[in-house]
Amino acid sequence: MSAHGHYRDLAERSLPGGALGTRLNPEGLRMTIATASGSRIIDVEGSEWIDYVCGAGALILGHQPPDVVEAVQRQAGRTLHQYGALTDVAIELADLVVAAIPGAERMVFTTTGSEATAYAMRIARAATGKPKILKFEGAFHGNHDYAGVAVSPGEPSPYPQGVPFSDGTPDAVRDTMLISPYNDLDAVADMARRHAHELAGIIVEPIQRIISPLPGFLEGLRSLCDETGLVLIFDEVVTGFRLSYGGAQEYFGVEADIASYGKIIGGGGPMGAVVGKAELVDLTHPDRQGSSGFVYASGTLHGNPLGAAAGLATLGHLADPGFYESVAEATERLAEGLRRVLADQRIPAIVETIGSIWQILHMPRSPTTYTDFLSSDRAANVALDLELMRNGINVIPGLRRFVSAAHGEDDFDSTVAALERACLVVKGDT
Ligand SMILES: Cc1ncc(COP(=O)(O)O)c(C=O)c1O
Repeated sequence: MSAHGHYRDLAERSLPGGALGTRLNPEGLRMTIATASGSRIIDVEGSEWIDYVCGAGALILGHQPPDVVEAVQRQAGRTLHQYGALTDVAIELADLVVAAIPGAERMVFTTTGSEATAYAMRIARAATGKPKILKFEGAFHGNHDYAGVAVSPGEPSPYPQGVPFSDGTPDAVRDTMLISPYNDLDAVADMARRHAHELAGIIVEPIQRIISPLPGFLEGLRSLCDETGLVLIFDEVVTGFRLSYGGAQEYFGVEADIASYGKIIGGGGPMGAVVGKAELVDLTHPDRQGSSGFVYASGTLHGNPLGAAAGLATLGHLADPGFYESVAEATERLAEGLRRVLADQRIPAIVETIGSIWQILHMPRSPTTYTDFLSSDRAANVALDLELMRNGINVIPGLRRFVSAAHGEDDFDSTVAALERACLVVKGDT
């Protein structure tokens, strides 16, 4: 039996669908990865893909940057894990992260981005004494019950209610999430004012999936929160250290009250954080236990030294002058090549880019709302992405993807050539 068949059989024996998480590609595209390097991943049979999944955005330097690997190896030789006591690397990482983020004064560790959004919402509720959070339709904030409302509905939501993405979500939790359309400031303001008596905060992905904020939208949320006393939470799990060193807050020039972080701050290792104003993050201060105004935030893997070592080594590169300009320019060069192919092949799709984030969407113009996004031909998006995968390009079909500092012109040329072949197949010309 082939190595691939062996691992498929093993995976199917123990894992639902033989899969990881919610993604199950068609047969032939269910890879078992053995190694990775730079922009490439290699499966157990030696097949190679150019990888734009990049750890769902965590790997901004690409796979296995030598000094990040070395830092993790060194840390593994010192201590793998500590609980209830900080390590030197965790303290250094916290100091770096707080210094990088505009207006931030304090941070509390988590293990994942999901945990960070859950704690951020809990802090907002505790700080205001109110039970509900306003979330945007189509926004993803992780795997927990509060985050899982109106994540990817197939049709516009029955505002302010949203539909949970998972059975097992208590109605009581669902009902604490008020759902509003993204990029519609009037709708948000109306909802926030009508529900001000029960709303604790607003959580927003500054760039919602692949949708950029309209000019004034994030600024409008800031003013609205100032006016109504709501806590403004930016979910920077993807945008943090991705759009710029100071994340979306620096990129768009709008400061949140608190922000959730994950992915890049762990350099591919387990790491997350809630970062922001001291008056809010300090609600987790251990001395507050047993009194009112205390938020519980603790976990076995919080501040994990391996994640901290990887994060520290990664952030060291991101502070290099020109780093963000360089990955954004590279992404634009890739996008230009892809756009040329789509035009030549008469495929009615656009290549949307923001910094080093990109996606091909079958629609005539950039989406500005979730309803816009729904109007794109999503089956065609997925079909083209699957064909890209069959041509050696690793993406998650239908989702945004990332360029890393390890991607180069040869990767882009191969990606453009792969798109050309993929277009011929989806058009039925081969
Ligand atoms: C915007 C956003 N928030 C939160 C999360 C959850 O992070 P994690 O998967 O580390 O729990 C993700 C994960 O992709 C995300 O994209």
